[in-house]
Amino acid sequence: MKLRFREDGPIVIDLPAGTRFVLNGEEHVLERPKLALCRCGASGNKPLCDGSHKRSGFRAPAGALELAPDR
Ligand code: FES
Repeated sequence: MKLRFREDGPIVIDLPAGTRFVLNGEEHVLERPKLALCRCGASGNKPLCDGSHKRSGFRAPAGALELAPDR
């Protein structure tokens, strides 16, 4: 699994569209092939990103975190 930290934006997890997930006990289906998690704290739909980072002035560098394979 790879997490992408978008510059000045959310943490993005790439997943196939149609992936089902449970958030706070409620089932959802991904409409787009990614899940964006808020890291700016301004989202009105936490823990999901709702685009509020664009108006909040949030600044953070881009990056990536990838789980290393088992040895
Ligand atoms: S990162 Fe997008 S609303 Fe927080």
